[in-house]
Amino acid sequence: MYESEVIQEWLKKASNGNHNAAKPPPTPSPLRFSKFFQSNMRILVTGGAGFIGSHLVDKLMENEKNEVIVADNYFTGSKDNLKKWIGHPRFELIRHDVTEPLLIEVDQIYHLACPASPIFYKYNPVKTIKTNVIGTLNMLGLAKRVGARILLTSTSEVYGDPLVHPQVESYWGNVNPIDSAQCSIPIPVFFMVFWVRSCYDEGKRVAETLMFDYHRQHGIEIRIARIFNTYGPRMNIDDGRVVSNFIAQAVR
Ligand SMILES: NC(=O)c1ccc[n+]([C@@H]2O[C@H](COP(=O)([O-])OP(=O)(O)OC[C@H]3O[C@@H](n4cnc5c(N)ncnc54)[C@H](O)[C@@H]3O)[C@@H](O)[C@H]2O)c1
Repeated sequence: MYESEVIQEWLKKASNGNHNAAKPPPTPSPLRFSKFFQSNMRILVTGGAGFIGSHLVDKLMENEKNEVIVADNYFTGSKDNLKKWIGHPRFELIRHDVTEPLLIEVDQIYHLACPASPIFYKYNPVKTIKTNVIGTLNMLGLAKRVGARILLTSTSEVYGDPLVHPQVESYWGNVNPIDSAQCSIPIPVFFMVFWVRSCYDEGKRVAETLMFDYHRQHGIEIRIARIFNTYGPRMNIDDGRVVSNFIAQAVR
């Protein structure tokens, strides 16, 4: 498909009324449309050394037309999760913190970088919110520059302490931005820090807002997945969430 066809296609979708971006999507690299590179995808996975990210990398690597680039600062992830791909000609691993800009050429971005377990995201709340806000801004800037489609892994935590069960996408949530009364029973100030989770909840909410604003203002193609509690192989045994805690206790 040629560039003008992509724009025509977009205009067709826009006129169906289900697309409210102000602009057509940015033009992808001309290589995307060259015969030689026709079905090749260069895919960036941020946070690809983590639990979900490394499984996503396995899936993406199954397609021989994909080249996969992982950017990770190894805060909660590990090279071990990717050891079967290290050295593979279609795979590249970069030690990179998403709070810094990343200038590479890619066609798709899966933006997962962020600690997901409360133990880790509460360890340095300021860093957590920076990862969500500045990290997402950097990835959206990259998506805009290279015309890439971008997916953000958001979370059920955007619903906060929900008043609607089960949560539907149209529900806006009930998040306390300053964590002052997150817990209904009185607890000493020292322990308050263990309850603090707004750096994660609000961080992801801002990240979602940025995604939609870049979509509306710059025409970036976006996807958001609000993931609920997930468990499986490569999960950290000391993760601190309910499923791993139950399993660890049962094993002990
Ligand atoms: N696991 C779940 O149940 C769950 C639920 C909801 C949402 N999510 C979201 O899915 C994504 C992946 O979660 P996960 O369970 O694989 O977590 P994880 O902690 O195993 O993986 C996160 C990865 O991001 C990396 N990372 C963290 N901060 C970074 C930074 N500033 N720069 C670069 N890399 C950074 C970590 O080193 C790690 O490899 C996260 O965005 C998380 O918020 C997960």
